[in-house]
Amino acid sequence: MTERAPVLSVRGLSVRFLMPGGHRVAAVTDAHFDVAPGECLALIGESGCGKSVLASALLGLLPGNAQTAGRALLGDLDLLDADERTFARTVRGRLIGLVPQSPAAHLTPVRTIRAHLEETVAELTEVRGRTALREAAEAAAGRAAFPVTHLDRHPHELSGGLAQRAATALALVGDAPLLLADEPTTGLDRDLVDRTVDELRRHVDQGGSRALLMITHDLAAAERIADRVAVMYAGRIVELADAAAFFGAAGPRHPYSRGLLDALPDRAFAPIPGLPPELGALPEGCAFAARCDRASDACAALPPLRGTVACHHPHAVLTEAADRA
Ligand SMILES: Nc1ncnc2c1ncn2[C@@H]1O[C@H](COP(=O)(O)OP(=O)(O)O)[C@@H](O)[C@H]1O
Ligand code: SF4
Ligand SMILES: [Mg+2]
Repeated sequence: MTERAPVLSVRGLSVRFLMPGGHRVAAVTDAHFDVAPGECLALIGESGCGKSVLASALLGLLPGNAQTAGRALLGDLDLLDADERTFARTVRGRLIGLVPQSPAAHLTPVRTIRAHLEETVAELTEVRGRTALREAAEAAAGRAAFPVTHLDRHPHELSGGLAQRAATALALVGDAPLLLADEPTTGLDRDLVDRTVDELRRHVDQGGSRALLMITHDLAAAERIADRVAVMYAGRIVELADAAAFFGAAGPRHPYSRGLLDALPDRAFAPIPGLPPELGALPEGCAFAARCDRASDACAALPPLRGTVACHHPHAVLTEAADRA
């Protein structure tokens, strides 16, 4: 892995929603992580754990009742301090290319993919003039393996896979250093999931200076392309791990991460008992305690993130000697 400065550096990022009656929802709490140039970090965790809220904080898309704390540095810019004008003019599309969850919802139904691409090229680049815009739009389509023969189609005339490629092409136009994909494979069959994430990986590998933060609850997709994994539970990142170790023989160290993998059909197929806690009513100690088979009295106190895992009784690190035994 390269030692260049991280593309994104998140430090103590928290998001609270202020609800009527003074109630507070702790959607994201004290997130710390970096994403390096050329790296893909997969942010995984069950639905409702705060992944999209974290993405919205990075994109300046939080609703008015949200309060943030901490820092999220993209180069010199702290995204948590930026105003809407900065997000609109310099962040969205230019510094962060968003690959959306439902491309169909991001594309305008009455406009062709060519029109979308030409407009985005005109907005985000210096390219001007009809012919040049047309060529740039076709090149952008090509980068995302979107067939030029389909450029004059409308969004509803595309398959799910092609709509996803159109959205990816749009996300790549601004040549942003950070690609942020929030559940980019929702609703796609396994074959298309593989092709979509392989495309994203390819864009990170090309040039080597781009980074990818991929939010997903699809662990197979994460395993396929991630260099590192961040596991989120009830708004907190509870484990940061090298993907090969996490999905390989060493396995995850946090009991929740183990539970996620054990729930997979091609593994133990044993779901984690119980449900995550409400983010508006979190326990004082470890939020996973009620579902954890390793819980002890110590877990009534919040486990700090020690090294790469936030747990009082994490699974042991497999040493090479233990591996050989
Ligand atoms: N505008 C909002 N107001 C209050 N709570 C919200 C709002 N948006 C999201 N939340 C809360 O934040 C939690 C995390 O949501 P989200 O980040 O969308 O989860 P996911 O990990 O599935 O992407 C949700 O459970 C919800 O309770
Ligand atoms: S801190 Fe305790 S309850 Fe929480 S995951 Fe670790 S062992 Fe389980
Ligand atoms: Mg989400």
